[in-house]
Amino acid sequence: MPSTNKKNNILHAVNGYQDALDHQQELLKTGTDYNEQNGHVANTIASLHPKRIQLVVSEVIEDTASTKTLRFKAKGGFLPPFQAGQYINLFVNIDGTETARPYAISSAPQQRGFYDFTIKHVADGFVSHFLLNDVKVGDHFQSTGPMGTFYHNPLFHGDDLVFLAGGSGIAPARSMILNMIKKTSQKIHLIYASSYEADVIYINELKRLEQEHDFLTITWLISRPTENYAGRTGHVSAELLSELLGNDLETLQAKMFYICGPTSFHDFCAEQLKQLKVKARRVRIECNGPPKRPETLAGWPQNLIASDKVMVTIHKADGSQGQFEARVDEPLLNSMERNGYSAENACRSGECSLCRVKILKGSVFNPAEARLRSTDEAYGWCHSCVAFPTSDIDVLV
Ligand code: FES
Repeated sequence: MPSTNKKNNILHAVNGYQDALDHQQELLKTGTDYNEQNGHVANTIASLHPKRIQLVVSEVIEDTASTKTLRFKAKGGFLPPFQAGQYINLFVNIDGTETARPYAISSAPQQRGFYDFTIKHVADGFVSHFLLNDVKVGDHFQSTGPMGTFYHNPLFHGDDLVFLAGGSGIAPARSMILNMIKKTSQKIHLIYASSYEADVIYINELKRLEQEHDFLTITWLISRPTENYAGRTGHVSAELLSELLGNDLETLQAKMFYICGPTSFHDFCAEQLKQLKVKARRVRIECNGPPKRPETLAGWPQNLIASDKVMVTIHKADGSQGQFEARVDEPLLNSMERNGYSAENACRSGECSLCRVKILKGSVFNPAEARLRSTDEAYGWCHSCVAFPTSDIDVLV
């Protein structure tokens, strides 16, 4: 008790303390409910940055033979705002397997009536196959709110922008370009690489935008052209970048590069930019899933081939256990989900760390995408969306 008195004496000696107490008493008399205010703020934040959104498919647009755009509207309520370039994580249930995939929003952030997701068929793809073949207008889905750090920051990125887009990686680039249409201060060069001529998405819209806006230049690139194709062919090589953008280092360093496309495309483009001595801080790379062929990456155990299998033992917090067999080249999160186990997830690319699980026994391969903190690595935590089991493992989820 004496210590309470001492504390009160000290507080009363603080300049303004008595005024604050008087003000508090006055507010209490007028009925101000701070709890209600806190709830109001929390509700406002939750409506702008919701953890989950309920969506309904309003349109299915055929872009190319291998690509469709699914247009989603909010199922009641409204869609939260997003930064052009961000993604949502779309939850699906395919024949009883609960899983999710991140998709970049391809529509412009100025209109909030719908989100577009442009989805390309992936050979052996579990979710893309379902979305492209089975989804119809009126189907309901749940997703996370928009997230991710792949967007243009005018303060740090400047206004001389180069997009290196591969295949359906055009989706976030389209959203960012549409967003900038009215901001004429930007100079944009889109280098858009596709495998075949027939794979080019949004070709008419992009051609029209290039004609209408002087600040936009597009270079089309086809890696597997038909015999009579007269345009540019090949890959986004350092030579091509030098030819299109100049190889003067100062000019290159003034540009901001955004790479979006499959993970192999990221790796290739990032390497070319490194060869041109572009600083890593001038390069932004979109999250786009785990590496497709981890067995080809540096650090992969020499004694393992992709089709090898290991035993995964799951330990849940409630003490229950389960076991399943998994391929070493499949991300741990995917094999867990196929066997009825889950971990919270969003980016599925190693960035957000929501899917962290602890490896109690055995080993996993963590590719560069995993972006693990050194303490995580030291204590056996991994990002299950990009971790590959390389021996029998015990996992705490
Ligand atoms: S889901 Fe984001 S790091 Fe795994």
